[in-house]
Amino acid sequence: MWKDWIRPFVRPLPQWSTVAIAPTSRAVTATLHGDDASVDVTADHTVASLKPLVIATSVDAGERPLLEYTDSTTQRLLGVLHLVRMAPVTTDKASISLYQVEGGEHYCLSWLRRSWNAWLQNRLMLKSRAPHHLAMDPSAVQQLMTAYLHPRPVVLVSLDAPGHQNIFPMDLIGPLERSGLFSLALRSTNVSEPVMREVRQVALSSIPAAMKNVVYKLSEHHKQPLSDWNALPFPVRTSREFGIPAVSSALHIRELAVLHSQTIGSHTFFLCRIASDEDLAEGLQLHHTAGFHQAYRRKRNMPFAEV
Ligand SMILES: Cc1cc2nc3c(=O)[nH]c(=O)nc-3n(C[C@H](O)[C@H](O)[C@H](O)COP(=O)(O)O)c2cc1C
Repeated sequence: MWKDWIRPFVRPLPQWSTVAIAPTSRAVTATLHGDDASVDVTADHTVASLKPLVIATSVDAGERPLLEYTDSTTQRLLGVLHLVRMAPVTTDKASISLYQVEGGEHYCLSWLRRSWNAWLQNRLMLKSRAPHHLAMDPSAVQQLMTAYLHPRPVVLVSLDAPGHQNIFPMDLIGPLERSGLFSLALRSTNVSEPVMREVRQVALSSIPAAMKNVVYKLSEHHKQPLSDWNALPFPVRTSREFGIPAVSSALHIRELAVLHSQTIGSHTFFLCRIASDEDLAEGLQLHHTAGFHQAYRRKRNMPFAEV
């Protein structure tokens, strides 16, 4: 159809693609190239802040490392981020390196289509900027999309404190493998942020892909707390040690004890110890990846299942 042919010229790819992936999948490998060595950080890096865009890892890779994302099957380079070291986060348990993203590019599309698609996406971002939103610079959003070449799992985070209960989606989360810690980056304006700093306990439910619509609806709870656990459109079960209501149909429930929290730009970065880890069901988990990554995979007849 002529419309399919013309679409890439007039309409940008979506920034994000919501996909169904096995929690153990390692479709993309992340490697940090530092001064002395290259280290696999697939399970050891996460986003710590969006504005500025900051990556956290338990690896110290020197002053100006490169973070590369490669397709684990074909070994093709998908994208790269140029990083600059910031002051680390230091606790009595670990020192976590922070790197501000200074530049980046992806190689999922041909040069011409990449530049044109970025121009269309950036134009749309500038046009649809709402004043109360976190207005990231379009070039930083392009770099964030590159960080999402490594698909990010979506969880529902729940907390239950006297006078305050809540459950909301997060994907700026992840293990910092070598430190044994797990991190969460939560916008400092989130209504539960002060409570999380105070009670220091949360439960993370790994969400089956089929629950996408319910999860997106719960993003309203970034702004307002939950009035009643019984009002949720799915059953809950209490987490093993902390007794926090979590999602009964979760693939996995992880309890986190917050060891340290600090503000990094627009976000509060929580460093946590995993207090319990329950595997409940097999299945595909909701993930986010970059739209250009899904386009790359579709062209090669290996798209992630879209939800
Ligand atoms: C699937 C999903 C994952 C999200 N992950 C995070 C997250 O990790 N950290 C965060 O601070 N906000 C997260 N959010 C919240 C949104 O980014 C946004 O802050 C929230 O919806 C409020 O929007 P606004 O303040 O820009 O209007 C997530 C939302 C959704 C739907």
